Amino acid sequence: MKYFPKISRGKVYLSPIHTDDYELFTKWMNDKRITDWITTWPRIISISSEKEWLENVAKSWEYNLAIIRKDGDKLLWTVWLFHIDHINQSAELWISIGDFDEHSKWYGADAINAMLSFSYDTLNLYNVFLQVKSFNKKAIACYKKVWFQEIWTRHHCQYCNGEWHDLVIMEMLKPDWQEKNI
Ligand SMILES: CC(C)(COP(=O)(O)OP(=O)(O)OC[C@H]1O[C@@H](n2cnc3c(N)ncnc32)[C@H](O)[C@@H]1OP(=O)(O)O)[C@@H](O)C(=O)NCCC(=O)NCCS
Repeated sequence: MKYFPKISRGKVYLSPIHTDDYELFTKWMNDKRITDWITTWPRIISISSEKEWLENVAKSWEYNLAIIRKDGDKLLWTVWLFHIDHINQSAELWISIGDFDEHSKWYGADAINAMLSFSYDTLNLYNVFLQVKSFNKKAIACYKKVWFQEIWTRHHCQYCNGEWHDLVIMEMLKPDWQEKNI
């Protein structure tokens, strides 16, 4: 058995990461169609560095979980909760689906909602926020669909493909999420 349904929501479940997936992780970390939307394109990510990184994550208590499509137990990629601050009950969320053919099928929304339910109901967090490049309309549409609110824009702070872009900060508070998820 490769994946373990830790948290389930809609068409996906979140599982501990499996280190055997390092080749797929490396492929997606080097796919410009994906990495333009995130911040890793300038980094050189080899198969051995990705393998080592995955082995460290898999051994740690980090909340970096594999998104698995229930239909066929297919790896879609990861959703990650980091910068966790238990005193102030806040954390940052990061998500990506590696396979382009699997975008816009609600897997992203399901995975975010699964991680949010874990954040509020298990980790007792209050404020989950994320950062997204302003030109990433698909991601912003997905975040709004699960009721994240835009709270701030940092201007001219992301250099990508020879141009400057803005970074949008969005957040979700526990009571707002609970109200929407009754
Ligand atoms: C962002 C991401 C996680 C969203 O997951 P997803 O499964 O594709 O998203 P969903 O299907 O849940 O929702 C996407 C919404 O955007 C809409 N959408 C799709 N393409 C769009 C586009 N080009 N412009 C605007 N909206 C778009 C979809 O119609 C959908 O809304 P709807 O279902 O209400 O119609 C995924 O697309 C991804 O991994 N992208 C590449 C990496 C990335 O951008 N990561 C986020 C970094 S902040």
